[in-house]
Amino acid sequence: MQTQGHPYDILRWYLDAGVDETIGEAPVDRYAALQRAQQVRAAAAQTQSPAPQQRPGAPGPAPVAAPVAGAAVPGTAAHIAAGCATLAELRIALEGFEGLSLKHAAASTVFADGNPEAAVMCIGEAPGQEEDRQGLPFVGPSGKLLDRMLKSIGLDRSTAYITNVVPWRPPANRKPTPDEVAVCMPFVSRHIELVDPQVLILFGGAAASALLAKAEGINRLRGRWFEFNSPGLPRPVPVLATFHPAYLLRTPEAKRDAWRDLLMVHKRLTAGRH
Ligand code: URA
Repeated sequence: MQTQGHPYDILRWYLDAGVDETIGEAPVDRYAALQRAQQVRAAAAQTQSPAPQQRPGAPGPAPVAAPVAGAAVPGTAAHIAAGCATLAELRIALEGFEGLSLKHAAASTVFADGNPEAAVMCIGEAPGQEEDRQGLPFVGPSGKLLDRMLKSIGLDRSTAYITNVVPWRPPANRKPTPDEVAVCMPFVSRHIELVDPQVLILFGGAAASALLAKAEGINRLRGRWFEFNSPGLPRPVPVLATFHPAYLLRTPEAKRDAWRDLLMVHKRLTAGRH
């Protein structure tokens, strides 16, 4: 094991290898942390009403339930997120949130990029190495592809808003676990409420199954319109899921389907303009 070099490089090497906990001088009550995560999940589950089923072949979107903020337990993510009245407050709340250990291994809390006034809000999975370094979402190789995908339907970071379901980089770029995503969900729902976009695009299976509250994989969820609903939204937001740019970099033959999905978004955004 070669770990010679600058202390920062050594630390980075450990983080890349998946070491996400360090031993500090102050004791940490892991049971309390676990209890907090369980409270968040219980509060989200309690407040989530079942989404009505879409009849096979039926036209129109399938509504999706979102956590109701009112019933949240004080100190939980749901309670903290519900108390944020602006995006600036939500960012500060996330930066101060201690309910997820992923945060301690990450260099940044990656909040968002782009234009919060935009019609389109894009949601990915979690920051990668470059995003963690810069503190911005989708600025690494998959971000370059995302920019090209958005450009193909006439969008860029001045006409789209970009964030992730998890704002902290999982060690060694692993996928965030469903529990980690569940802890972050009240913040994501509040984020959507505060941006109130005309259309949501979900990139990849993690964002799709979390926000559509469906067990199906991205292959089944992509290319169909759903609705995201939440008590803080004036009306449900149309949602479309598609493949994650990182998957498209590994599987270029899937780009054709992703292109079709983006055309659906374009059509929806420009409907009635002609
Ligand atoms: N992948 C994501 O899902 N989000 C990012 O910000 C970067 C890579």
